[in-house]
Amino acid sequence: MHNGQGQLVETFVDSGGRIVCPAELIPASGQYVLAHTDVSESPLAVPVFFSESAPNGFRAAASLPATWMPGVRLFLRGPLGRGFALPSSARRVAAIAFDDSSARLRGLIPPALKAGAAVTLVCGGAPDGLSEEVEVQPLESISEVYAWADFVAIDIARENLPGLRSVLNGAGQVHGKAETQVLVRTPMPCGAMAECGVCAVVLKDNWVMVCRDGPVFDLAELK
Ligand code: FES
Repeated sequence: MHNGQGQLVETFVDSGGRIVCPAELIPASGQYVLAHTDVSESPLAVPVFFSESAPNGFRAAASLPATWMPGVRLFLRGPLGRGFALPSSARRVAAIAFDDSSARLRGLIPPALKAGAAVTLVCGGAPDGLSEEVEVQPLESISEVYAWADFVAIDIARENLPGLRSVLNGAGQVHGKAETQVLVRTPMPCGAMAECGVCAVVLKDNWVMVCRDGPVFDLAELK
């Protein structure tokens, strides 16, 4: 974990942006850095997730504060949390954006394609700049894609986990899938610094902090 400075050099219509920063501060897919500015009115740092590689830094997933303009200096702490771990054996990779942008899943696509895997992205909209090698499917096809894949990455808000469980149970697939990793989105105001508990999620046996113990969990761990 490192502390350092970066700069937001470009913003995008999806409220993501391109950040230039030292290499040691670049999060892996599914990880995040906590960022704040010296012009922000809020004392709280903002979790900034990796979306894609970019020159001298990375493209950050959507949901950057609207007050952050290109050129703003960022104070960064990270990388933080447990990210996705793409198995080298994966041959049919599914990325499912259950209830939001697919941006936090996009970092899995280049290494999966490079390893020779077929990749299907399930999401609500038509993402820009996607490789033609990636098949895009609507949310209605989650069960079908889930049954096809041998590795599944899901991005979902904490409050929608019961809904995910019922969708997958309906497909009769929960216990049959070898590898399903779930990025759980919650507010993360302290990034484990103050152990505020705002990001708590219950696993099978105990409570854990999404900011510190996640945000990516094996589906089998989640209650
Ligand atoms: S954000 Fe405070 S403990 Fe996770």
